[in-house]
Amino acid sequence: MSPPEVNATTEILDFLAAQENKELLRFLTCGSVDDGKSTLIGRLLYDSKLIFDDQLDSVARDSRKWGTQGDDVDLALLVDGLQAEREQGITIDVAYRFFATDKRKFIVADTPGHEQYTRNMVTGASTAELAVILVDARKGIVTQTKRHSFIVKLLGIPNVVLAVNKMDLVNYGAERFQEIVHDYRAFAEKIGLPEVTYLPLSALKGDNIFKRSTEMDWYGGPTLLEHLEGVEVVSAGLEKPFRMAVQYVVRPSSDFRGFAGTLASGRIQRGAEILVSPSGRKSRVARIVTADGDLEEALAGQSVTLVLADEIDVSRGDIITAADAPPDQADQVAGHLVWMQDAELLPERQYFMKVGARTVTAQVTDLRYKINVNTLDRSAAKTLQLNEIAHCNFSLDREIAFDPYETNRHTGAFILIDKFTNQTVGAGMISFGLRRAANIVWHETEVNKEARARLKHQKPCVLWFTGLSGAGKSTIANMVEKRLQSLGRHTYLLDGDNVRHGLNRDLGFTDQDRVENIRRIGEVARLFVDSGMIVLVSFISPFRSERRMARDLVDEGEFLEIFVDAPLEVCESRDPKGLYKKARSGNIKNFTGIDSPYERPELADLTLPTADLTPTDAAERVIAMLRDYGFIE
Ligand code: ADX
Repeated sequence: MSPPEVNATTEILDFLAAQENKELLRFLTCGSVDDGKSTLIGRLLYDSKLIFDDQLDSVARDSRKWGTQGDDVDLALLVDGLQAEREQGITIDVAYRFFATDKRKFIVADTPGHEQYTRNMVTGASTAELAVILVDARKGIVTQTKRHSFIVKLLGIPNVVLAVNKMDLVNYGAERFQEIVHDYRAFAEKIGLPEVTYLPLSALKGDNIFKRSTEMDWYGGPTLLEHLEGVEVVSAGLEKPFRMAVQYVVRPSSDFRGFAGTLASGRIQRGAEILVSPSGRKSRVARIVTADGDLEEALAGQSVTLVLADEIDVSRGDIITAADAPPDQADQVAGHLVWMQDAELLPERQYFMKVGARTVTAQVTDLRYKINVNTLDRSAAKTLQLNEIAHCNFSLDREIAFDPYETNRHTGAFILIDKFTNQTVGAGMISFGLRRAANIVWHETEVNKEARARLKHQKPCVLWFTGLSGAGKSTIANMVEKRLQSLGRHTYLLDGDNVRHGLNRDLGFTDQDRVENIRRIGEVARLFVDSGMIVLVSFISPFRSERRMARDLVDEGEFLEIFVDAPLEVCESRDPKGLYKKARSGNIKNFTGIDSPYERPELADLTLPTADLTPTDAAERVIAMLRDYGFIE
């Protein structure tokens, strides 16, 4: 029999279907195994009778063997055992467990508490309506409690329970409990946490979990379960303005056109006036279509297809909203970012940003400050490591519609995705839009690229030479430029070493500086193409992402990537500037090929294996390619 743990969506759906008419509460537990988190979750599952018999047998067996509780069943083993199973094939370390009572059904996001904690909490909390923060009554409020509380606040989880566990180990003393409440209250106020419910418990003995404790007469509040069953769930978002991201445009025939999606917040009635963001067009709701027939009204959480009264342009990713309460719109935003990947965040690198159903290209343009989640101190930073949190400015390639996360968790959250691996690398919360860009508009000039190129009798393009130091980029680029000159072409050669003497003299060789180096050169190359020139670029340009970015800056067909490919040993034996020698002896840090990576092009337009090719022959191949592509006769 399978354990009461669900990772697969279908299992969650089955569970929900069986409990269909009960209200659902999603919550999150924060704390470490030491605080009794596993015991608490085990207790909830055990007392709600949703642990299957064979599994219990094995826990009882293991308790005798490994347990720390004498002959009592050690509930922590139950959860930890499941966890061990899970750890064999993890992608995201969050397990969703479920249980139900007569009044409600529950999904608990169980996030294991080691180094990956922040990332896991963010993943598990995205839909949580309540957080149980566990503390050990003996230890009181510790650094970890503060960290968890800060993240709970950042994620905007509306209900917080401070569960003071292990009361049995402090003789069920009221004073100790009050002390902890007092300490936490001061801290919660400082970080602006909303109302907190304080509960004294013993997960091990079962005090105040399902059953009221007979040992703590002085406590008059609810048991944990009473609280979970009774707490008002407001975050369903009914009270918020109507928002629905368009997942699909449904067009089965020419006389039906609907927009399908799930209401992120609010409610919508037939006949209501709506606005489509970011286009700003308005219309009315003609029909609310569902599989079970038309509705007069749809509520947050429901999936529907809206038919509008007017033929207006709506596409996938747009947001349909209440006409009288539209969302914000901007192509630059500020927000918190939680970094979730081993490789560090590189400002200026392009990532995909997914907000609702819309995906845009985004760059961190300014890492404003990093937040130490233990002390809440802010500090300056150039990059972010795994699990770190910062407040950043983002620049997007298009306008998006959004709400500040504080006012709407659904339309204010985003994830960042690596453009090459498609992995989620970060998650974030938008604080506000930055309006600067609105004051800068693109100015069409009357003399354009075509006119400039015509005068020079040529088709402009970028010849992008990439490869290790010493591979031969500059030598070959030089020869190609000479050949083009003799053919009467107008050219310019941008060389890494030279540009680093001027425009880029503020940049070094860290990953983030190289990203910025190539971003600037990509932009300069674009300007040269716009002026009608053939521009030769000779930079190591070690990263795929930035070469792709440079390619995307110019029109299709205008960017030719030339991989000057020589093995490291060959480059090192040539060592024209003596730099490899210095790098090997540790006198130069971050040297490409030695202690800084080079990502080989996967689909270069031309590869020049210079170990087996004279520079003249290599240059000839470039000229031949330009002929083939029609850049020269
Ligand atoms: S890139 O990686 O940012 O594209 P770029 O082409 O501008 O590098 O500069 C590389 C040149 O700088 C090399 O040809 C070499 O002469 C010099 N250089 C100095 N230090 C380094 C280093 N740590 N790594 C690579 N090149 C270096």
